[in-house]
Amino acid sequence: MSTKKTLLSGVKPTGRPHIGNYFGAMKQFVDMQNDYTAIYMIADYHALNLVQNKSEMAQNILDVAIDYLALGIDPQKSIIFKQSDVPEHAELTWIFDTITTMPYLQRAHAYKDAEAKDKEINVGTFNYPMLMAADILLHDTDIVPVGQDQKQHVEYARDTAQKFNFIFDTDTFKLPEAKILEHVAVVPGTDGRKMSKSYGNTIPLFATREEITKAVMSIPTDSKPIDEPRNPDEDNVYKLHKLFSDHGELYELGERYRKGGMGHKESKELLIEHIDAFIAPLREKREQLAHDTDFVLDVLREGGKRAKQKAERKMEAVREAIGVKLY
Ligand code: ADP
Ligand code: TRP
Repeated sequence: MSTKKTLLSGVKPTGRPHIGNYFGAMKQFVDMQNDYTAIYMIADYHALNLVQNKSEMAQNILDVAIDYLALGIDPQKSIIFKQSDVPEHAELTWIFDTITTMPYLQRAHAYKDAEAKDKEINVGTFNYPMLMAADILLHDTDIVPVGQDQKQHVEYARDTAQKFNFIFDTDTFKLPEAKILEHVAVVPGTDGRKMSKSYGNTIPLFATREEITKAVMSIPTDSKPIDEPRNPDEDNVYKLHKLFSDHGELYELGERYRKGGMGHKESKELLIEHIDAFIAPLREKREQLAHDTDFVLDVLREGGKRAKQKAERKMEAVREAIGVKLY
């Protein structure tokens, strides 16, 4: 038996990933796969709250699988699967629903945000944290690498594990922990707010050079003359440089800001160069994989089988714990 701890994380297939997703979460997926039993999910049933169109959903799922592979997740080492291939996730969600109260779910940030915006909220959105708890707990997960905005969801999973174990007097579920890298917990978007698909302020992770240029050039900057000293930490362009420069480069750049003479145009052009140099090989890899759909579908099919076997075993233990397993 492997003594490695289990890592699980996931991404919703709701559109192109951006560099906030990458530095906040997906980079860790690649970096950590050697040291953990690693499971990466495509959260299609979560995405169904937003994507309710057959061809768009199918394409989005395939796209996330290609993204995972292009970034370097190795299907020989890690399980890549889509949530809908393992119906046990939905089954466990139901069981969690029965031990969860409405006021507890009403405290979720995502729900409160939607409510504050007077949005019509579907039951799936309200119940989102319970499906995510099922994702995490079904696979005996120790650690969940995510960005800051998912911290509360991992806490919901942990609370739910504790509550289930207490009510049924069992140790069925492990208590998972979020893994958040502090310096990239919230990657800023081109407008300075959190980079997010829903704000339209992203730099796509597999962007073309033209897209990178357009996004970087759109970053608002102050109107001080070039020669005036500037605080780099108040500059949106510099904040993004932090992701793409090494320590020495960043120090030099910061000094030039502080001394004065570092114009926005020059800083933006440098950033475009750095981002493009970083993205170019990923773009190429992605392009190759996009032509090999059969391989990508095989990876998903195989990952789905492996994840389902694990989940079936765990559900047996859950049914036993709650008293519905009679034979
Ligand atoms: P979005 O907010 O763009 O819809 P997702 O909800 O699909 O992104 O997030 C996928 C993963 O990326 C999650 O782990 C999330 O915490 C992380 N993430 C998203 N945006 C950022 C950001 N701006 N900075 C750091 N991590 C992020
Ligand atoms: N809710 C996560 C997001 O929006 C995606 C997700 C679904 C997830 N299930 C998960 C992340 C399980 C980590 C573990 O980004």
